[in-house]
Amino acid sequence: MENRVIIGGQWGDEGKGKIVDALSRDVDWVLRYQGGANAGHTIHLGDQKHVLHLVPSGILHEGVRCLLGGGMVIDPWALRDEMLGLEEKGISVRNRLHVAATAQLLMPYHKRLDEAREEKLKRRSIGTTGRGIGPCYLDKIQRTGLRMGDMLLPADTLERKTIEKVLSANEVLSQSYDADPIPAKVVAEELVVLAQSLGPLVVNAYEALTGVRAGTERILFEGAQGTMLDIDHGTFPYVTSSNSTIGGALTGSGLPPRCLGEINGIFKAYATRVGNGPFPTELLGTEGDELREAGGEYGATTGRARRCGWFDLVQGRYSVDINGMTGVIVTKLDVLDALDTIRVATAYANGEEEITVFPALGEDLPSCRPVYRDFPGWERPVAGCRRLTDLPAAARKYLEFLEQELGTLIVGVSVGRDREEMIWTPTGVTT
Ligand code: GDP
Ligand code: IMO
Ligand code: MG
Repeated sequence: MENRVIIGGQWGDEGKGKIVDALSRDVDWVLRYQGGANAGHTIHLGDQKHVLHLVPSGILHEGVRCLLGGGMVIDPWALRDEMLGLEEKGISVRNRLHVAATAQLLMPYHKRLDEAREEKLKRRSIGTTGRGIGPCYLDKIQRTGLRMGDMLLPADTLERKTIEKVLSANEVLSQSYDADPIPAKVVAEELVVLAQSLGPLVVNAYEALTGVRAGTERILFEGAQGTMLDIDHGTFPYVTSSNSTIGGALTGSGLPPRCLGEINGIFKAYATRVGNGPFPTELLGTEGDELREAGGEYGATTGRARRCGWFDLVQGRYSVDINGMTGVIVTKLDVLDALDTIRVATAYANGEEEITVFPALGEDLPSCRPVYRDFPGWERPVAGCRRLTDLPAAARKYLEFLEQELGTLIVGVSVGRDREEMIWTPTGVTT
C-alpha cells in the first residue's frame, strides 16, 4: 500500500475518522498534521464509540504509531483527558503516541480569548468550537507561543515562562474584552505537572519520521476540518485558522511532497456545515431536519446541530482541484436510503449568470442559488452492500454521476458507520 493523505472535502465531519481507522491496519504511522481539539473524529467498533479530538484515528490498531505533528495546536489538559479515556477502555496509548516538539501549546487563555472574541463579534461571530484554536495560531504566527518542546524545560523555567505568557494574555483579556483573568500561578503549576506525564511523548519529528523518508515505513496523514474551512482556500472569514488542505500535510508534518502518496478527499453523499458562514446548498426546512436526523448530524465536539444540504459539485470540483485529489471516498450513502429524490448542485445561478467555477471570495456565495439535477432514490437499505454490484442501480447511477463530474475516481464508498461497512472501488465506480 502507498502512503495516503485523508482530507476533508467539504466543511468537515465527512467521516475522516472512520476512513482513517479503516485504512490504518497496514500502516506504520498515522499523523495528524493540523488543527487541535476542534476536531471530533468518531469511530464505531461494534458497540463501542470513540470520539477522538487530538489523538490520531489510527490508535485503535495495536501496531500503529501515532504522531501529533508540528502543525497542530495541542491543549495538554485535553490530551491528558483523551489519553486517560482511551486507557480506561483498555487501549494502549503511551508507548505509541508521540508529539512533535514543534507543535504549539494551546493554553487556557487561548480558550478564554476565543470565547471573548466570539462574544464581542455577536451576530458576526464565526461560530467557533470554543477550543482556543484561532488565538493559539495567532500566538504562533506572531511568534510568542509556547511549544510542546517547552515541556522538557526544567520545572522552574517552564513555570516562569508560563506565568509570563499568562500575565500578558491577561492584559489582552482585560483591556480588549473586559474578561476575567486566568490565575497565572495555578496554570503554571498545573502545566509543570502535565509536563511530567506528557514530556516523555515529545519527539523530534524529523528524526522519528526517518523511516518514512527512506520509504521503509508507511504513513497515513489524517486531516482535520475540511477544505472549505481552510484559512487560505475556504470561505474566509468563516474558516478555521490552519491549512486543512494539502499544503498543511507538508508544513504540518515536515515531510517532503514525495512522501504524500495518494491524496484522498472524503465527501459525504450530501453536505453539512457546523458554525456560521455561506453554504449554498443548505436545506432550511423539514428536508434539512430529516437529513440531520437520518445522518445523526450533531457535532462530535460541541453537540451543535449541523446544517444539512445537498451535494455541491461546484464546491466539490474546487476541492478536488485545490488538493490534487487522486481519488475520493464517498461516505454516509446509507443516510439517503429513504429518499425518493436526491438532488445535486451542478452550478450556481447569480442573476442571469451561471457559475461553475467556485468564487474566490466567500462574500459572493450568499447571492449564488444552486442549479440542481435530480436523481431518483433507491429506497432500500445499502448498509449490507460490500461490492459495487450489490448496490441498487439508482445508487450506482448517482455515484457514477458524482465521479464523472468530480473528474477523479471514487475509490471507496462508506455505507454505514462500522469499520467493515465499506465498499472499496480502487478502479472507480463507472463501469
Ligand atoms: P470526521 O470529523 O470527518 O471524522 O467525522 P465525524 O466523526 O465528526 O462525523 C461523521 C459521523 O458519521 C460519525 O458519527 C461517524 O460514525 C458517522 N459515519 C461515518 N461514515 C458513515 C457512514 O457511511 N454511514 C453512517 N450512517 N454514518 C457514518
Ligand atoms: P472535524 O475534524 C466541522 C468549524 C467551526 C467553525 C469554524 C472555526 O471533526 O471535521 P474553530 O474552533 O476551528 O476556530 O472554528 O470551523 N470547525 C469544524 N466544523 N468539523 C470540524 O472538525 C471543525 N473544526 C472546526 O464550527 O465554524
Ligand atoms: Mg468531526
